[in-house]
Amino acid sequence: MARQSASRAAQNLRNLAQRHGTPLFLIRRSVVREQLNRFRKALRRVEPFYAIKANPHPGILKTLVAAGAGFDVASKAEMEAALSAGAAPERIIFANTIKPAEAIATAAREGVLLTTFDSEYELYKIAEHSPKSRVLVRIKVPNIGSVVELSLKFGVDPSDAVPLLIKARRLGLTPAGVSFHVGSQCTHMENYVESLEMAAIIVRDAKLKQFPLEIVDIGGGFPIPHLDGDEDQFDKTARVIAREIERLFDRNLRIIAEPGRFISGPSATLVMRVIGKAIRENKHWYYLDDGVYGDLSGIMFDHAKYQFNVLRSGRRQLSTLAGPTCDSLDIIARGEDLPELEIGDIVYVNNVGAYSSASATTFNGIAPAKIVVVQ
Ligand SMILES: Cc1ncc(COP(=O)(O)O)c(C=O)c1O
Repeated sequence: MARQSASRAAQNLRNLAQRHGTPLFLIRRSVVREQLNRFRKALRRVEPFYAIKANPHPGILKTLVAAGAGFDVASKAEMEAALSAGAAPERIIFANTIKPAEAIATAAREGVLLTTFDSEYELYKIAEHSPKSRVLVRIKVPNIGSVVELSLKFGVDPSDAVPLLIKARRLGLTPAGVSFHVGSQCTHMENYVESLEMAAIIVRDAKLKQFPLEIVDIGGGFPIPHLDGDEDQFDKTARVIAREIERLFDRNLRIIAEPGRFISGPSATLVMRVIGKAIRENKHWYYLDDGVYGDLSGIMFDHAKYQFNVLRSGRRQLSTLAGPTCDSLDIIARGEDLPELEIGDIVYVNNVGAYSSASATTFNGIAPAKIVVVQ
């Protein structure tokens, strides 16, 4: 049975590659919806605001608008993408702590009033260009073991959070809450536990100082399995987060999150073909029609390790995969255990939906993959 469905899936990939050509970036809306539902079910008190940076494709955004999700935008362009996909301004958080004045002014015009900050200088800018803003202070939290560290560049020391929120109030802004990010692909759930604890202290302190906060934003970081056999840690992590939220926060406090990878990561498959082949130092090298400059840019920017699948069987040997550009940086994987491939063979990667096409570029005149959205 399993073999039958595997061969049906293989045939399906061959047909799609035939119809659309390669490289092909295939997004499944049904998986986007499934991931959102899974998130909501595991974290009932938490409102998901999808972090568009993970994958801004309009097909994903529209699917999420229809499902009632909110959005985390990092720039004016992402804000415009969310709005044109149909998102309501009050369902958007501008969650880049450092924003150009012009982007802040656009947010004010569009009615996107919820935003994060982590510096006094930013507060002056927000007060000038969007005085009705409701601001969340982002704190620096442990990012131990996360694949992508997100507290190096951002976040204030937790002890500075309340003084900064008081400053925000003095400037006429509404101090709305506290936010953090434990690092992307976080598999060390203590990061969430400690961060929630820090946020709770700030919420308590703000209440004592007579400005009760309304929101705690727990950021992103929710992990997905990248390779077959990786442990799926989301449910375990979510159970701990849900328990801590119940323990630490009043029912009337709103908890939001900014999941990116968890929503779009599992939704896409990248289908490539072997365009060239060589033997170098006794090893097979296969050159593919997409690579590190294209939809596998996550190797550079996301520290991603992908699983490369093929449709051919046979005796396996350690091989190297490289991308199509002239740069030696464009080596995708060394020591891949693969059967001997022929020119024209398909190589595909699952779970490649996040931080991939979002940072793909055209180099050497070689464009990233065609994106096709299916149900
Ligand atoms: C502010 C912010 N929110 C949310 C995210 C999404 O994180 P993830 O994809 O790990 O869920 C990121 C990722 O860089 C981020 O910087």
